[in-house]
Amino acid sequence: MDLSFDKEGLACSAFDQIADAVLIVDKTGAIRHANASAIQLFGYDASAFHGLPIEVIRGPEHSTALRNQIIAQVSAGETWRGRLEFRTKSGAVGTHDTVISPFRDSSGSIVGMVSCNRDISVDNALADENASILEAVRSSNFGVTIADATKPDLPLTFVNRAFERMTGYGFRDIVGQNCRFLQGADTDAAAVANIRRAIQHEEPLSTMLLNYRQDGTRFWNRLQLSPVHDFRGQLQAYMSVQIDITHDMTTLTVERERQKMEQLGLLASGIAHELNNAIQPAVLMSETIGDFLLPDQTEAQGCAEVILRHSIIARDIVNKVLAYARHGETESVQLDLSALLHRVVQLAKGVLPDTIELQTHQFDMAAGQIIEASETEFQQVFLNLLLNATQAMQQSGKIDISVSCLEILPGSVVKPTLDSGLYVRIDVADQGPGIPETDISQIFDPFFTTKPTGEGTGLGLSTAYGIVRDWGGSITAENRNGALFSVYLPVTVRHAADAA
Ligand SMILES: Cc1cc2nc3c(=O)[nH]c(=O)nc-3n(C[C@H](O)[C@H](O)[C@H](O)COP(=O)(O)O)c2cc1C
Repeated sequence: MDLSFDKEGLACSAFDQIADAVLIVDKTGAIRHANASAIQLFGYDASAFHGLPIEVIRGPEHSTALRNQIIAQVSAGETWRGRLEFRTKSGAVGTHDTVISPFRDSSGSIVGMVSCNRDISVDNALADENASILEAVRSSNFGVTIADATKPDLPLTFVNRAFERMTGYGFRDIVGQNCRFLQGADTDAAAVANIRRAIQHEEPLSTMLLNYRQDGTRFWNRLQLSPVHDFRGQLQAYMSVQIDITHDMTTLTVERERQKMEQLGLLASGIAHELNNAIQPAVLMSETIGDFLLPDQTEAQGCAEVILRHSIIARDIVNKVLAYARHGETESVQLDLSALLHRVVQLAKGVLPDTIELQTHQFDMAAGQIIEASETEFQQVFLNLLLNATQAMQQSGKIDISVSCLEILPGSVVKPTLDSGLYVRIDVADQGPGIPETDISQIFDPFFTTKPTGEGTGLGLSTAYGIVRDWGGSITAENRNGALFSVYLPVTVRHAADAA
């Protein structure tokens, strides 16, 4: 049996240049030839390698049974393909994609075998790493999506479990769609335009926008979008990370509102004290000046009266500002809402003109509900709303007061922004012309008034708002056949038995 090669020949040169490790083994199992790649891969000197039993480089999991099976197959003239473990001279074990074929002499007789080996240990390690990256993305707490940028309109090709949980959409329902299905009526158009611009310029983007779950509830989405380019710089995909930041946004909004009101309160209080000091002498002096005037000095008396009247108006305004600044100084106690509402309606009937009809609805919903408030401030809030309604209807018409209960669940985004819990909502609806749409967003701002100059301080509603906010509730304004103000009050204790 002659396994020699023509070492000068082309065959030998090609043999050595093959990137895969090639070993020629004789029937005794000794390595008779190894190409340069094999010598490098197994780490032996060429002289030590030739003649070495193949058993020496067999890996621990390459069993004898498998070895015998391969020998039998190759001896029968067949080629064996599969993965085998081998050991290098230094003892390192690697997995090889291996093809073992019969080696024949010039007469065609099988005189050994040729083993062609490709080390795939690095590929295996990479595949393991890819698998663990994919699993990390799949099970991440943040939403992750991938859209195919080589197809029109960026269809989704992947969404992870957190995205499904966050949005309520299953992957099967949305695969192939553009992610804009998460947007809705109140999604900020400017934020969407920014996304569109970033996509056009293949730039990364971080933004926050209001999105809608499959069940229609809203959530604040912190969206991070990145283009994915291939090694040639060609855009292949967009990847995004989505985080539900609804809770953070709610807390932030409430805190900002609180700080705004606190600062305005401080400012108003400072100004009011200074003005009070200036007005007080004017009131006193214009009262006393009359004593010094003779009865025929009617013109001067008229002037003194005007000064007094306007000084008193100014003092009243200052007092209102002080009341606005001071709200919250009165102590809140637990009060029975039903009794409170009945008392405030009685009070209002005495204050409002007879031409105003007060109609109450579902007051039984307030039965057994306890709120933490101050009775004086409660009256201030509702008398203010009722007097505004009366003025809006030019002193005649019907005001409806209705009560309902609601529960705000944790994490839900509702208007107004409120903590989760049980609430009573008291609606005060008039039949007036309603609030101009342009004014609605400012209606609770201090010193904002829709009344003619001199008729309103613009503090009534802001004071009412501040009071209710301090109790953990809120007030909203909208138009429904007239103005509708809704007061939300958190319920401290619900006495189901009492309510029955
Ligand atoms: C991978 C990826 C994820 C996206 N995720 C969201 C998302 O969570 N919420 C959203 O409102 N828009 C998301 N968008 C943006 C919209 O799909 C769309 O690009 C955007 O509305 C601007 O395009 P349009 O003006 O054609 O709607 C995502 C876009 C891509 C490419």
